[in-house]
Formats: sequence, structure tokens, C-alpha cells
Amino acid sequence: MSMDSPEIEYYPAQPSFEPEQSHLLEIGPGRGDFLFHLAQQNPDSRVIGVEIKPRRFEKLKVRLAMLGLQNICLCRGDARVVLPTLIPDQLFEKIYILFSDPWPKRRHAQHRLFQESFILELLRVVKPSGIVFVAHDDPTYHQQIREKFSRFPEWEFSPAGIDFQTFYAEKWQREGRSLISFSYKRVA
Ligand SMILES: C[S@@+](CC[C@H](N)C(=O)[O-])C[C@H]1O[C@@H](n2cnc3c(N)ncnc32)[C@H](O)[C@@H]1O
Repeated sequence: MSMDSPEIEYYPAQPSFEPEQSHLLEIGPGRGDFLFHLAQQNPDSRVIGVEIKPRRFEKLKVRLAMLGLQNICLCRGDARVVLPTLIPDQLFEKIYILFSDPWPKRRHAQHRLFQESFILELLRVVKPSGIVFVAHDDPTYHQQIREKFSRFPEWEFSPAGIDFQTFYAEKWQREGRSLISFSYKRVA
């Protein structure tokens, strides 16, 4: 991640936010299958996709232009920078973080997205009663995510996850990995 430029880039343009409008966020859309699905299923919502990798961002731009979806804004940058820089308080109804962390090993722990500070930031940007959906394929990391969220009484766990096969969900299922999806609702 340190190789990535710290600046944020936007496509088609830097968004301005209307608090009355419904907003959804995906962090780490990768190829964008779920992001585009989300935008198609929620035509009245503004969908924000935050992708850290420049090459993936470029491919997302091409796919978005081809699909012609008007309700998506792409941001290229680290979600840990983009959220505090761009996003006002209590904006999102739903946030999706699906197979975002390629950091399974213990020595990678400091790179992982789900640190306490990031979970606090999610709390700031989600609406009251907003929901964060998480999917992961690593049982150890899964427990760590659960443990980190459990430190905040504002988050209520639910086993209800997403019902969409992302690119990585399909790939890892073919490889015989077991996938876990669950969610947290902001209750206070
Ligand atoms: C394993 S892929 C999963 C892609 C997609 N969600 C899926 O399920 O097919 C992880 C994606 O998250 C992105 N990512 C990882 N950390 C990120 C961060 N801090 N901010 C934004 N994107 C991030 C990666 O660049 C990559 O595209």
C-alpha cells in the first residue's frame, strides 16, 4: 500500500453530498461486479466506490464508462484517507467491505483495515441504524474483526451477510476456502 500515491482521484468528478439522498459505499470494489450490481439495484442511491490500487481504479473507470451508470462515484485512494478527507458525518445507509484485506499472516496485522481507529471512522460515516457488511475468507482474521467491533457497544452483530457472489468469493470458493459474511448495525 505504501507504493500508492496518497492523493485521491475521482471519477467522473469529486462528489458533493446531499444529506437527504441515500448513499451507499463499497470499500475495495476490485473488478467492480458488486459495485455495479449495487448501483443497478439502487438507482435512486448515490454509490461510492473507494479503490486503493491505481490499475484497478483505471479498469473500474473503463467499465463504468461502458456501463453508463450515472449514480456511481469512484475514488482512488486508501479508504483510511478517503473517508476522513471526503465524507461528512452520518452519510451512508450501508457500507460493504468484501474480501478487502489480503493480509492473512500475523506479521501483516498492522496493514489490516479493521483496526479500532477505522471501526471508529465507520461509526462516524454511517447513519444511525446504518449497516456495515463484511465478508472474509480467513477464520482467524474473522475472529479478530469480531473482537474489534465488539469493543464498541454502538455496533450490533448480525449473521446476515451479503447474498451476492463477488469475483473473489467465486475464486476462493473454487479453491475450497470457506467464506464468511456478516454485518454490524449501528444501534446507538
Ligand atoms: C481481494 S480484493 C476483493 C475485491 C472485491 N471486493 C471482490 O470481492 O471481488 C480486495 C480489494 O480491496 C482493495 N483494498 C484493499 N485495501 C484497501 C483500502 N485500504 N482502501 C481501498 N481499497 C482497498 C484492493 O486493492 C482490492 O481491489
